[in-house]
Amino acid sequence: MNSNQIFFKKSRILPADQFFRNVLYDKKFGYYASQMPFGKNGDFITAPKISNIFSEIIAIWIVASWETFGKPKNFNIVELGPGDGSLASILLKSFKKFPEFNSIKNLFLLEKSNFLRKVQKKKLNKDVKWINNFDEIKKGPVIFFGNEFFDAIPIKQFKKIKNNFFEKSYVLDKDKKIREIFVKASQMSVKIIKSYKSLKNLKFIEFPQFGLQELKKINKKILKLGGCILMVDYGYVKPSNQNTLQSVMKHKRNNLLHNLGKADITAHVNFALLGEFFKKDGLNVKNVITQKQFLAKMGILERAQVISKTMKFREQSDLYLRLNRLLGPKYMGDLFKVILAYKFNKNNFAGFK
Ligand SMILES: C[S@@+](CC[C@H](N)C(=O)[O-])C[C@H]1O[C@@H](n2cnc3c(N)ncnc32)[C@H](O)[C@@H]1O
Repeated sequence: MNSNQIFFKKSRILPADQFFRNVLYDKKFGYYASQMPFGKNGDFITAPKISNIFSEIIAIWIVASWETFGKPKNFNIVELGPGDGSLASILLKSFKKFPEFNSIKNLFLLEKSNFLRKVQKKKLNKDVKWINNFDEIKKGPVIFFGNEFFDAIPIKQFKKIKNNFFEKSYVLDKDKKIREIFVKASQMSVKIIKSYKSLKNLKFIEFPQFGLQELKKINKKILKLGGCILMVDYGYVKPSNQNTLQSVMKHKRNNLLHNLGKADITAHVNFALLGEFFKKDGLNVKNVITQKQFLAKMGILERAQVISKTMKFREQSDLYLRLNRLLGPKYMGDLFKVILAYKFNKNNFAGFK
């Protein structure tokens, strides 16, 4: 079989989100099925791999939020898309410094890729549980947390010409080449797009249908048991007709249709749309802030000062270089955003006060 055929499965034409979902998550040939995407030898680097201090701050945020929730005796944390398990391993280490919290917390991991699940299982001890859905979480509030989770879920793309919507799709030609085309959008898609204020007046629309389906299940759980969802990702609050689908391989831009299954494919997250979505479902939403604002409010610089006291000069400069990557406006500081949606009768969450 030609490698292009693999990702079409039995279809000849697929909407962009379905096509790229096959490319990323096909159980045998998908990007996430067999290779390590993260780090120097991979294709891209994420905040937990830049510095442990990022994950420590998330751990402190989780413990502080548990306090906001009134220190409940049953308390659950779900990490969404834990990657190679780096963040979860620092969470477990950091929680030990808070024995009261540590003894009652339940940490769950939701991971789609079987390959990455295996990587996580090697790294993490028995203090975590892998789940496929949230059925077994029955008691106590839940904190859902995801770093670069949403950008990894393929999106739909549409263009609007006069008042007609057309959806980007991919066709497998007779000579097995892949071609991009736009087909008339379904009435259902048009209705959904029109229901979002944050998509109004756009000529090029990105819509994360699969991602929102995942969030719907999370919202339901939060509405039932109480809790919140904190998501950190790169994206924007003002959509601007931009096509943000991108492919990256070995830390360099790659043509979207080249190296299928060997390169990562992501899209920027529309945070205004996420906020609208959470509100429609009945959750409260804090104003979206940048990663720099969140980490600074959570005291990352103070923490760096404390730990750097016992470091040698070279280690100190390495730490501050890494901090600059997390906070600097040229790097992740401004491009990355943080959104918090919650269901609780108080709203004094750390980092957002
Ligand atoms: C870009 S990686 C981020 C990994 C990690 N959070 C980090 O910051 O290094 C995206 C992660 O989300 C997972 N993922 C994507 N879609 C998912 C879904 N629907 N359910 C669970 N995990 C998913 C991927 O397999 C991968 O672990």
